Amino acid sequence: MTTLSFADWMARVQRDTENALSARLPAASLVPERLHDAMRYTTLGGGKRVRPLLTHAAGELAGASASAIEAAACAVECIHVYSLVHDDMPCMDDDVLRRGKPTVHVEYDEATALLAGDALQTLAFELITAPGAFADPARQLRATALLARASGSRGMAGGQAIDLASVGKALTRPELEFMHIHKTGALIRAAVQLGALAGDLDDAQIESLDRYAKNIGLLFQVVDDILDTVADTATLGKTAGKDAANNKPTYVSIMGLSEARELARGLAADAHEALAGFGDKALRLRELADYIVNRPF
Ligand code: IPE
Ligand code: IPE
Ligand code: MG
Ligand code: MG
Ligand code: MG
Repeated sequence: MTTLSFADWMARVQRDTENALSARLPAASLVPERLHDAMRYTTLGGGKRVRPLLTHAAGELAGASASAIEAAACAVECIHVYSLVHDDMPCMDDDVLRRGKPTVHVEYDEATALLAGDALQTLAFELITAPGAFADPARQLRATALLARASGSRGMAGGQAIDLASVGKALTRPELEFMHIHKTGALIRAAVQLGALAGDLDDAQIESLDRYAKNIGLLFQVVDDILDTVADTATLGKTAGKDAANNKPTYVSIMGLSEARELARGLAADAHEALAGFGDKALRLRELADYIVNRPF
């Protein structure tokens, strides 16, 4: 069997994720059409699909079935997209561009953005709890609880609350780390854990993957902070320089660009180290760690 290049593997997972999400989202012709249209508008046709890529890489390593990986990957992506729709609303970051298109509250209206986010969140739980989605119902229940926790007040939503409360404040480095591991790290971590739970790894192996995932989760937001300052709007597909404009504390604002870059490299190295016991089976997770540090957007 020939091994796909990383670029080809990534393109395949991105394409499969697009098709799987399209099949699972309600048709835009279904009532209420405007809400369904907004859900499809924001979920389809964009995004790097980093969380689905992580779920696929972990799931393939864990020997999970393609259908279990797909269900888990779609569920995590739905939570992520919901978080982006709400993050962009005027009451949060007030952004007009996402994935190269007008944000949902701009293209539709605020109430539709709120509801599209709500509905994507509940769709995620419909997908992860679908009967037979996982071979083992006990692991499916564990995965569902994990996704709920990662999304809620002790995960992503909690991190977002801290983010909003931090505007204009000079956070300490531990405070900033706490915010980042919640607002972004928790869901990235869940993406890996769900892939692992969809297969049949033992608890020690799941623990090693979780160590990888914790590092990748923080790394992802450190790089997001860096890109906000160094990349342009056209490349990012979202407004560049938004953190400084909104007076948000970031790794760049508290430690400077070169130290933030060094931190990112260190987190990637720690992520690689956590995979040492998996040998060649962790190839895709290693490639994803390198991709996340070096990504252009
Ligand atoms: C952006 O996430 C928001 C963060 C959590 C940092 P991504 O950079 O994964 O956004 P998409 O999915 O590719 O648009
Ligand atoms: C967003 O962080 C985190 C979540 C959406 C949970 P940011 O506010 O930095 O994300 P971008 O830069 O708008 O994508
Ligand atoms: Mg934000
Ligand atoms: Mg934002
Ligand atoms: Mg950002």
